[in-house]
Amino acid sequence: MTSTTARLALATCAELPELDADDVPLLDALRERGIATDVVVWDDPTVDWGTYQHVVIRSTWDYTHRPTQFADWTQRVERTSTLLNPAAVVGWNIDKTYLRDLEKAGLPIVPTIWLDPERNFDSRAIHTRFPAFGDFVIKPTVSAGSRDTGRYQADVTTSRSLAIMHAKNLLGVGRRVMIQRYLRQVDTEGETALVFVNGEFSHSVRKGAILDGPFRADDNQLYLREEMSPREASDAEREVAERVIAALPELAPGDGKPLLYARVDLIPDDEGNPVVLELELTEPSLFFGHAPGSVERFADAIVARL
Ligand SMILES: Nc1ncnc2c1ncn2[C@@H]1O[C@H](COP(=O)(O)OP(=O)(O)O)[C@@H](O)[C@H]1O
Ligand SMILES: [Mg+2]
Repeated sequence: MTSTTARLALATCAELPELDADDVPLLDALRERGIATDVVVWDDPTVDWGTYQHVVIRSTWDYTHRPTQFADWTQRVERTSTLLNPAAVVGWNIDKTYLRDLEKAGLPIVPTIWLDPERNFDSRAIHTRFPAFGDFVIKPTVSAGSRDTGRYQADVTTSRSLAIMHAKNLLGVGRRVMIQRYLRQVDTEGETALVFVNGEFSHSVRKGAILDGPFRADDNQLYLREEMSPREASDAEREVAERVIAALPELAPGDGKPLLYARVDLIPDDEGNPVVLELELTEPSLFFGHAPGSVERFADAIVARL
């Protein structure tokens, strides 16, 4: 869907050519503000991005197997348009190794062991890095929508074997791997996503626990089903999320302005303290449907940038 008049593009993926359903009301909100908008597939080779003054990344969720192509695209777009969020910020945020930077900055993250493909880990070396008890998670550092992510049981031999295979398969195709203990309070408390618009807290939602077992290639869809509901973030969650946002200008310098959008996903550790599971500055779902007024706020924030 392209036109000759629109100066704003919302970028999506080929599987969602009309945007994700949650983002669709944004089009009306922008139209009401007099902004003609095109929805454009990020890797469509026929698009002339230079015709758009601004490009806002939305549901570009199919890049996780080709992050370099995606990062190149952000830089290409930025040569002729204003990309939101900026390419430098996206480049930093595509790979979850940004969590190390957050940790170094003194922010609480989910404790993580990192496996680099260059290290050529054998099964034993992988095995010794698994926790001795409880459940644990294997996931690649570049992912979205729980793709390529599995949950395993440390004290079940067959489960450990599956986890080793999963990690080896990821490492074998050059992907970096994360090992985390499964933080069990997620099962009862869920995950809290805090959305910031223009650097200001906008709204928060609860996401139910997602992982129930080993990774299975055959259910690797664009994203796993997520059970969302409204939730007011606790004071402790607000505080951690605000600290993350405040750290960003230094960790991920962009264009000097507050980020158009940011989402901080927190889960409770075993003591119930919120820790960062994920910081989404690339293509987060913003869950407008669960927060009245949020889509208008986001549209206003876009208009203020044009
Ligand atoms: N260490 C963990 N403890 C508990 N749940 C986890 C853990 N890591 C991942 N999960 C579950 O898997 C989902 C996807 O993991 P996440 O790190 O958010 O990656 P992404 O959303 O980018 O695929 C989370 O929403 C959460 O339900
Ligand atoms: Mg997530």
